[in-house]
Amino acid sequence: MAFETIVVEISDHIAVLRLNRPKQLNALSQQLLGELAQAVGEADANDKVRCIVITGNEKAFAAGADISEMAEQSFADVYTKNFFVDEAAAINRCRKPIIAAVAGYALGGGCELAMMCDFIIAADTAKFGQPEINLGVMAGMGGSQRLTRLVGKSKSMDMHLTGRFMDAEEAERSGLVSRVVPAKKLMDETMAAADKITEKSMIAASAIKEAVDQAEEMSLSQGLIFERRLFHSLFATEDQSEGMAAFVEKREAQFRDK
Ligand code: HXC
Repeated sequence: MAFETIVVEISDHIAVLRLNRPKQLNALSQQLLGELAQAVGEADANDKVRCIVITGNEKAFAAGADISEMAEQSFADVYTKNFFVDEAAAINRCRKPIIAAVAGYALGGGCELAMMCDFIIAADTAKFGQPEINLGVMAGMGGSQRLTRLVGKSKSMDMHLTGRFMDAEEAERSGLVSRVVPAKKLMDETMAAADKITEKSMIAASAIKEAVDQAEEMSLSQGLIFERRLFHSLFATEDQSEGMAAFVEKREAQFRDK
């Protein structure tokens, strides 16, 4: 299906999903989030794709859910439609690594979308915020939970209650983003990181994604057992034999996802 609000480009085993409503600062309309969820599902199912990048443009990753669409909605509307729940679940189901490349505004649902990704690379122009309180509402796609886990209670409360924005430097210092790069280099640096991931064993990558995600769900002792089981199980893969043999033989590993 042709998409109208996102642009999908697949090359060198990387699917780049670019949000594309520039006039609305990539506000997340129901159409956009639906198309994005579908594109993530298709990239996940596409054997050629080994890493996914979600990005916006220079001015905005996404300035939040589309306020003009939400303005007319009642409780009954959002409750019965389960507003954005299925779309978020579809993105969270993805087993392949997803990197968010963020320049400009990542606000409200935009910040939440970036946090759904496995890690965030930020341009030095990035601005993060959960300003829903200014609209008389609050985060609804994971912001109160994920931002708190990433930056701690005090800063998360500050962001949600005052609605202030956090710049890229503060976001890196607080653990919201993994690295900050000059805006002009955002896509080069992100594609280089994605490229590195595509060279790895996809079985190991998916197991790592599962284990790190469980760190937010389980106690430490349960998480350590979960990690150990996955670690041991990777010894059943050809990629483990190949990876270790390649190290011993001082050559590049050729992983086959088996
Ligand atoms: C709809 C939006 C929008 C949004 C910007 N626009 N954000 N439209 N939904 N979230 C539109 C503007 O209406 C305007 O359209 C155009 O984009 C450019 O925006 P400006 O405001 O003129 O730009 P600027 O002065 O540079 O200010 C940028 C901004 C501001 C600071 C990002 O636009 C802003 O505060 N936006 C709202 C941010 C926000 O509150 N996000 C949270 C939404 S609630 P026109 O047609 O006038 O040119 C949310 C809940 C998620 O995300 C829950 C999910 C379940």
